[in-house]
Amino acid sequence: MPQAPIFQASRATQPTQPMLLCFNEELSSATRLAQAANLTMSRVERHRFPDGEIKLSLPDTLPPQVVIFRTLNDPNEKLIELLLLAQTARTLGATHLTLVAPYLAYMRQDIAFHPGEAISQRIVGQFLAGLFDALITVDPHLHRVASLQEAVPVAHAVVLSGAPLLSDWIAARRQHPLLIGPDEESAQWVAKAAERHGFDHAVCRKHRHGDRAVDVALPDMSVAGRQVVLLDDVASTGHTVARAAQLLLGAGAASVDVAVTHALFADDALQVMQNAGVGEVWSTDCIAHPSNVVSMTNAFAAALTQSHASPA
Ligand code: R5P
Repeated sequence: MPQAPIFQASRATQPTQPMLLCFNEELSSATRLAQAANLTMSRVERHRFPDGEIKLSLPDTLPPQVVIFRTLNDPNEKLIELLLLAQTARTLGATHLTLVAPYLAYMRQDIAFHPGEAISQRIVGQFLAGLFDALITVDPHLHRVASLQEAVPVAHAVVLSGAPLLSDWIAARRQHPLLIGPDEESAQWVAKAAERHGFDHAVCRKHRHGDRAVDVALPDMSVAGRQVVLLDDVASTGHTVARAAQLLLGAGAASVDVAVTHALFADDALQVMQNAGVGEVWSTDCIAHPSNVVSMTNAFAAALTQSHASPA
């Protein structure tokens, strides 16, 4: 039997204009998005109890269409917040919930690589699909599945890409660059970025032994004298691009820069890359970081405008 909310305050008249909800850490990106997409905006207040539990507070009345902006790096606590937030939003008047998650976590573990491993992509995907009607994200790490909806079975799923914008950034700064993907999985993003400006491109082969231990083999081509840009969806510890950069410089590349959609950059990742000889590091603003050079705001606004015109 459906449960009624335990506490029902008398509510103000329900607003009609779609509203964007955000957390304090993402206030500036969310404000830019709300302005670009013509959404009202409100901040979710969070209280952390001494024992670590959290309490969220939302506006007491929500419009039917609500957008939640939350990038999912460092995801574990954020997933609990999304659970509390989405379920509360529905009791406060929201009937169509869109999650804008610039970075979508847990997409890399898409199979059990060893017997007994949790297939996190499927589990987290189903969890999010149970909370939201629509999802907009950027370059999710979909390798063995063909579409975002296979991983996150929401009614309406939109995949944006940072690769074309990173390609424009590179084109304005490097002469005839050679785009290299540090592993086979990067081929989709490298091809997309290369196609936009007719750049030469190729991918390495990678074998991972552990979180910070990878072997990389360069593609069979000359890189001598080339301005190389290593391009990928994500760098985490930085060891993948660092190893590729060392090999490229050893093979005579004139320079090696790095362009990634998602600057996860755990711990000393930036230092690891720089120690390997990487020059510039460029990223989109999907995860806030000093390396951000490309903004996804307009792409999110366009996707939202479209989905609000025809909610699934
Ligand atoms: C996975 O295949 C991704 O595309 C990245 O190559 C990977 O996550 C990079 O990890 P790390 O920076 O820790 O080597």
